[in-house]
Amino acid sequence: MKFLIINGPNLNMLGIREPEIYGRETYDDLRRMAAEGCGKLGVEVDFFQSNHEGALVDAIQQAYFDRVDGIILNPGAYTHTSVALLDAVKAVGIPTVEVHISDVRQREDFRQVSYVRAACVKTIMGRGLAGYVEAAAYLKALLDGADPQQ
Ligand code: DQA
Repeated sequence: MKFLIINGPNLNMLGIREPEIYGRETYDDLRRMAAEGCGKLGVEVDFFQSNHEGALVDAIQQAYFDRVDGIILNPGAYTHTSVALLDAVKAVGIPTVEVHISDVRQREDFRQVSYVRAACVKTIMGRGLAGYVEAAAYLKALLDGADPQQ
């Protein structure tokens, strides 16, 4: 089983960017933690990060041709603006979990909209970097046909 973890704009700046919101761990820490979590689940994992909307669409489409089984997607600010990412997730039909490091429900009004959510099997927010590992566990259970625990 193979998952792809996609991070959108400014998530390469983790550790530097607004640490009071996103914490002090870096993007490399995120990769390490998620790789370890996926390893424990017996799942292969790849990572992609871009600050560009079209590159994120390309990565989602490529996941289809690479026969990726599950996508973990933190679209960053494109969460709140991008119909293109919504359409890409719909187009590939790969089970996708939306992840946010911060709890967007507790933040500004403009963060209350998520376009991509409508195409996702689950949304995890406010769990810090652990949210990515939770997303992987959810997808693994879902794809195994087990009860993926809410
Ligand atoms: C984010 C929340 C978004 O609103 C924000 O634009 C981000 C990060 C999160 O992980 O909490 O870039 O997706």
